[in-house]
Amino acid sequence: MATTLSQAYRDTTLQLKHIIPLDFHSIHELPESHAWTQADEISSEKRACQTRVEEEPSIPVIDLSSPTVVELVGSACQRWGMFQVTNHDVSLSLVHDVEAHAQRLFALPADRKIKALRSPNGATGYGVARISSFFSKLMWHEGFTIMGSAVEHAKELWPNEYEEFCDSMDNYQKKMKSLAHKILLLILKALGLDEEDQEMTSSAYLYQSEGALQLNSYPSCPNPNRAIGLAPHTDSLLLTILHQNDTNGLQIFQDGMGWMSVPPVSGALLVNVGDLMHILSNTRFPTVYHRVVPNETRHRFSMAYFYGPPTDSIVAPLSKFQFPRFRPVTVKEYIGLKSKHLEKALHLLRIS
Ligand code: OGA
Ligand code: NI
Repeated sequence: MATTLSQAYRDTTLQLKHIIPLDFHSIHELPESHAWTQADEISSEKRACQTRVEEEPSIPVIDLSSPTVVELVGSACQRWGMFQVTNHDVSLSLVHDVEAHAQRLFALPADRKIKALRSPNGATGYGVARISSFFSKLMWHEGFTIMGSAVEHAKELWPNEYEEFCDSMDNYQKKMKSLAHKILLLILKALGLDEEDQEMTSSAYLYQSEGALQLNSYPSCPNPNRAIGLAPHTDSLLLTILHQNDTNGLQIFQDGMGWMSVPPVSGALLVNVGDLMHILSNTRFPTVYHRVVPNETRHRFSMAYFYGPPTDSIVAPLSKFQFPRFRPVTVKEYIGLKSKHLEKALHLLRIS
């Protein structure tokens, strides 16, 4: 039987020392466990060129019904690895409904949320970010991950009224999957794949492609300058589609410039290139190194949908690239490499 995404993650046996997030409601001072220095946060290579935080990067906002959408997507992927989309056919009422469920979940008392904890070798459930084990400090963040069904965990949170939550998450994931599918086709076109190639590549990738939904909560923080919401990382799969509530916090790293804020655009969804797309595009499209910083007064919520090919399929630079820069890898193997080596995983696949 084919491996599912949640199995691929379960098989990575991440040893999370602290899977239980802090009880943020009861904390009024930043504890030492959550006070970061730059040395805790960033690899030395990136630290060397970290300079300043720019306020307004011009991440393009692309109308998906534009007649030049392929060119717009192609140039945004090449320049930023990121763009915002409007006219995406995901109703705002659904987005807000999912956000409201997330808020309700994270507002539960800590002892209730712990009942839905992700197990150390599990994929779905409440807990700290998966990348936590790579850092000695803890993040000002709590998350709820959904891979496959959330029923078992949602029942622990709301024994009698879990269905509404699950229906809403299922609807949202369906919508995200079809939007991701659509965007993937645009990106493949922008990479110059003709219709026939596209059909081959996309049929393998799309019919049983898999996704995961991550609900993120970043409570207001008593000392945001010393805390980190989500430590710097790249996303592993092909694409991520992110909704951020109206609270700033997301930043992307640009070589030579440092960290730049990506403020939310009302009604738009943010799309970013992940590691597998970086491989597929033979480095033409950069995978985006990003982090979240907390806010002193506002509570940030976000929903990230990660989209990738079936876990047993092989990802390699498209055959049109004469000099492939990565060796082929299965999605499952890549997830394993990433869980062991984090940002060094991509380098391990480089062949030139
Ligand atoms: C993630 C992520 C950004 C955010 O979940 O991988 O980068 O704004 N989230 O929460
Ligand atoms: Ni991310």
